[in-house]
Amino acid sequence: MNVNEIEKAINIIKNSKYLTALTGAGVSAESGIPTFRGKDGLWNKYKPEELATPQAFNANPELVWEWYAWRMKVVFDAEPNPAHHALAKLEEKGILKCLITQNVDDLHERAGSKNVLHLHGSLRIVKCISCNYQFYAEKPIEVKPLPICPECNQLLRPGVVWFGEMLPSDVLSKAFSEVERSDAIIVAGTSAVVQPAASLPLIVRRNKGKIIEINPDETPLTAIADVSIRGKAGEVLDEIIKLL
Ligand code: APR
Repeated sequence: MNVNEIEKAINIIKNSKYLTALTGAGVSAESGIPTFRGKDGLWNKYKPEELATPQAFNANPELVWEWYAWRMKVVFDAEPNPAHHALAKLEEKGILKCLITQNVDDLHERAGSKNVLHLHGSLRIVKCISCNYQFYAEKPIEVKPLPICPECNQLLRPGVVWFGEMLPSDVLSKAFSEVERSDAIIVAGTSAVVQPAASLPLIVRRNKGKIIEINPDETPLTAIADVSIRGKAGEVLDEIIKLL
């Protein structure tokens, strides 16, 4: 972790008038939740087209629900890590105005973050494939037999956005308006390859805002970030909040 880069990031944060954040799976990695890409990523073991698409669910709802029930259990058993706590603290201090996440876990909320936009939905939401019925799961749900909608008897599905699906339009437009007014954005724990999330920091930059990237690895964002800190989000954000 480079001290100068930390100091640079702290200056950007201190001078910001409207700071936002975009997080990805990497901020939950230190909570024991696997990321998707990179050396131990889920997509190295599983095929997203077999587990995270509407077609996969239609073809084999048992397999898809088994995988999501496992992911729900991992998330429910996990605890927020210092990255989640630091971002919640930044919001509590009135510095971080909005936290936009690609993650479907609820660790930001469990760390105390209030203003969170879930671009890709949430593992805690279970919804009907047909009607508007949905509920917020307090614990992992039974998936054998397959969960059925009590309103219309159709199948229930995970409340996450699958590949090929539209993001929730209200959440997405809010995310775009948040980054439009951002003069700085912290981008932590994302490979910055999945759209439209990956475009959000570019909007901040286009408006002459500053980008702070936190990631052990380089990403397509690294070259254009004002500061890119090669480090773990839990360690770096913890350091930043301590020195702020
Ligand atoms: N701290 C910060 N970053 C980390 C850490 C850590 N401790 N550990 C790993 N990373 C970084 C990895 O280097 C990688 O760049 O987190 C990033 C995780 O990238 P992905 O696994 O691609 O996750 P994400 O960017 O959130 O994926 C976006 O893709 O599969 C879809 O819907 C899924 O929301 C997900 C989207």
